[in-house]
Amino acid sequence: MPDLPYRRIAIAGGSRGIGAALALAMAGPGQELWLCAREGLPLEETARDCRAKGARVQCRSCDLSQPGAAAAWLDEIGERGPPDLLIVAAGIFGGRPDGAEGTPETVTRQVIAVNLTGALALAEAGALRMRRAGRGQIVLLGSLAARDPLPDAPAYSASKAGLACYARALRADLAGSGVGVLLVEPGHVETRQTAQHQGSLPLLMSPPAAAERILRALDRGRDCLAFPRRAVLALWLLDLLPTAWRLALLRRHRFSVRNLAPPAPPVARGRGGQG
Ligand SMILES: NC(=O)c1ccc[n+]([C@@H]2O[C@H](COP(=O)([O-])OP(=O)(O)OC[C@H]3O[C@@H](n4cnc5c(N)ncnc54)[C@H](OP(=O)(O)O)[C@@H]3O)[C@@H](O)[C@H]2O)c1
Repeated sequence: MPDLPYRRIAIAGGSRGIGAALALAMAGPGQELWLCAREGLPLEETARDCRAKGARVQCRSCDLSQPGAAAAWLDEIGERGPPDLLIVAAGIFGGRPDGAEGTPETVTRQVIAVNLTGALALAEAGALRMRRAGRGQIVLLGSLAARDPLPDAPAYSASKAGLACYARALRADLAGSGVGVLLVEPGHVETRQTAQHQGSLPLLMSPPAAAERILRALDRGRDCLAFPRRAVLALWLLDLLPTAWRLALLRRHRFSVRNLAPPAPPVARGRGGQG
C-alpha cells in the first residue's frame, strides 16, 4: 500500500464495503479518521478495527441525502481546518425488482437523493472548505455503470453519470486552487451492493483490492480511475458495435435487484469516542 501524505481523512460511507476497506487500509498511528453512514453499529465495528491499527476515529450517524447534513458533518470535523482527504463513498444501489417491469419510483428518488444530490452536497461543502484552506483532495465514487448504463438499474446509472459529469466540472473549477478531484469508476466489488444484484457479476473484486487501486491512483495524482482494466476494455469494444449487437451480447448480463428499505433515521447524535 502506498504511503500517502494524508493524516486527517473523512470517509462518507466508511462503515462498509469500499469505504470501510479504504478506512482500514489508511488506518495507522498518527492517522485521524472521521467516518459517517446512517447505521451506527457497522460504523462502530469499522471504527474499532481502525483503532486496533492505531488510528484515532470519530463516527457520525447521519443521512447525507438530508439537506444540511453534509455541511454539518464537515463543520464538526473542521475545528482545525478541513480534512486533507475527503472520500465520498456513500451510495446505494437500486433497480428493477425480480418479475417487475421497471424500477419503483421510491427507489429512483432515493438513489438520486443519495448518490447524486447527497454526494454533490458533500463534495461542494468539502470543496468550499478546502479551497479556502488552499489544499485538499476529494475522491468521488462513481461506477462503470456511468459508461455503460444498466437497463436494470437506470436511476443508479444516471446518478453515476451525473456524478462523473460533476467531477469534471468541479475539477475545472478547482484548477490551481491546490485541491484535487479523483473520480473512481469501479466494476463489481463484493459488498452489500453486489449482494443486492441478482445476476452475473463478471470480474468481481474484493473491497481491499479495490481500495488498493484507489490509493495507488491517489499516490500517482490521477484525476480518473476506472477498473478492472479488462471490464473497461470490454465496454470500450462493445461501444464500437451496432446497438442491436451490443444489446444482444449484454442480454446474458441482465439482472434484478433486491432493493433495500432505508434504515430507520438516526435518533441520537451517534458520535463515537476518539481512539
Ligand atoms: N460494490 C460495487 O460493485 C460498486 C461498483 C461501482 C460503484 N460502487 C460505488 O461505490 C460506493 C461504495 O459502495 P459499496 O459497494 O461499498 O456499498 P455498501 O457496502 O453498500 O456501502 C455503502 C456505504 O454508504 C453508506 N450510505 C448509504 N447511504 C447513505 C446515506 N444516505 N448517508 C450516509 N451514508 C450512506 C452505507 O452505510 P448506511 O447504509 O449505514 O448508511 C455504507 O457505509 C457507492 O457509491 C457505490 O455506488 C460500488
